[in-house]
Amino acid sequence: MNFELKTLDLTAAAALKTDVLIVLVSATFKPARDTLSGLIGQARKSGDLDASPAKMLSLWRADGVNAARVLLVSTGEGHARQIRQAVTSAVGSLKSVSPKSLTLWMEDATQHRMHAATQAVADTSYVYTATKPTAKASVLKRVVLGLPTASQTKNAKPDFDHACAQVAGVALAKEWGNRPANHATPSMLAKVAQALGKKPRVRCEVLGPGEILKLGMGSFAAVAQGSREPMRFIVLHYNGAAKSEAPTVLVGKGITFDTGGISIKPAAGMDEMKFDMCGAASVLGTFEALAQLQPTLNVVGLIPTCENMPDGLALKPGDVVTSMSGQTIEVLNTDAEGRLILCDALTYAKRFKPRAVIDIATLTGACVVSLGHVRSGLFSASDELAHALEAAGEAALDPCWRLPLDDDYAEGLKSNFADVANVGGRDGGAITAAKFLQRFAKDYPWAHLDIAGSAWKSGAAKGATGRPVGLLLHYLLGLVPKPVTQAQVKTTQTATRRRPAASAA
Ligand code: BES
Ligand code: MN
Ligand code: ZN
Repeated sequence: MNFELKTLDLTAAAALKTDVLIVLVSATFKPARDTLSGLIGQARKSGDLDASPAKMLSLWRADGVNAARVLLVSTGEGHARQIRQAVTSAVGSLKSVSPKSLTLWMEDATQHRMHAATQAVADTSYVYTATKPTAKASVLKRVVLGLPTASQTKNAKPDFDHACAQVAGVALAKEWGNRPANHATPSMLAKVAQALGKKPRVRCEVLGPGEILKLGMGSFAAVAQGSREPMRFIVLHYNGAAKSEAPTVLVGKGITFDTGGISIKPAAGMDEMKFDMCGAASVLGTFEALAQLQPTLNVVGLIPTCENMPDGLALKPGDVVTSMSGQTIEVLNTDAEGRLILCDALTYAKRFKPRAVIDIATLTGACVVSLGHVRSGLFSASDELAHALEAAGEAALDPCWRLPLDDDYAEGLKSNFADVANVGGRDGGAITAAKFLQRFAKDYPWAHLDIAGSAWKSGAAKGATGRPVGLLLHYLLGLVPKPVTQAQVKTTQTATRRRPAASAA
């Protein structure tokens, strides 16, 4: 799908050749003298276009409009969430029409609104086809985003580019999240990463079982030992800044299928454990977006990936494994495998002397109990990092919620037979999991995102969401040093010139 940003007043929008024209109309819309404004004004007056968000009026072959279909859609006050809701209903209503091109007209576009609009078009028109050849793939090829004035389009361009990169990143994360475990093995994820490694400024290394064992990742390897699929440790680099700039490290949980191992899960709904690599998918998606945007940043992506299977060779409850950090771990429950693969990746992350490390994992059912499917769980001892991630989540409509990390929560992780146990009882399970990880992340600012509730949807709409690519991309782009504007240069110059006079006085 190709997005294009264009200056279009409503007169130009009416003349444009496009299959569908969607006009987003806020409650404060001021009709001008053109045809579309006239239609909107009349529809409002007659009560046919209610001003509440996502209320819609469709026109077919309207006089003076080139597009065969026009959808007038209300956006209420025009908040990002309302824009998303409006675009989702509008594009959703076109399923039977299968447009090849679509024009989305907005009165104005703040960053948040533009992100909401582009992501909603992409999400609503996404069709999974990889293992379903009978599914009708989306034919939507061209999406024009129209803004009324040239200065609006000019100002919106950087945000528009960011939005398009996010759409590409989310699409990759969704696609690989959705593929079943036999079509998304650790080796296949490694291939995706290697393909990303061919893009400008991206590099990829893939380690196999021999190298992983040699590094001493005994905890990660213990999870993989019950599976016939060989484990992989994927290392991605995006080098957009000077070598001296400390990187941000993203660590994604890549369990391509989680049966629970010997502590096996119940049969009902177990298919959804193919989504247990959505953390990994979000790291791949974020790299796709970085490759497209080429920001001035250094980022490292680490993905430990394997299956968690029951087998004659599988890890058993009570087994003690030695992690790369040297800490021994008593595995009381083989279904708490995510933390066992992540802890070694967190130790590996130290070598990059990172400015921050963020791990992303479908880690606990307890997090779903706490936060449902709306917000991801966020854990961090660093207020600065936590606040930045919270803000990024709000901006990207990909929200998270911070949970505590008091040391008292780690009580249950005590073991008589190892330095630490891998589970600490049912209560507060999302927090004890985070406390376990924290033991391996002492050498840098660290945050943990538990995406067990946000990475995919169940039921009729079963499918990966591509979250939290939006959050991660917003956070990372927030780290890019802003270019100094002409206005700022002038004020600094004036300030410098004034200084001697001030000291003389
Ligand atoms: N991948 C699961 C977490 C999960 C469960 C995510 C359900 C989404 C929905 C994880 O590996 C797991 O099994 N966690 C256990 C931990 C427990 C044994 C301490 C859980 O949450 O039940
Ligand atoms: Mn598990
Ligand atoms: Zn798992």
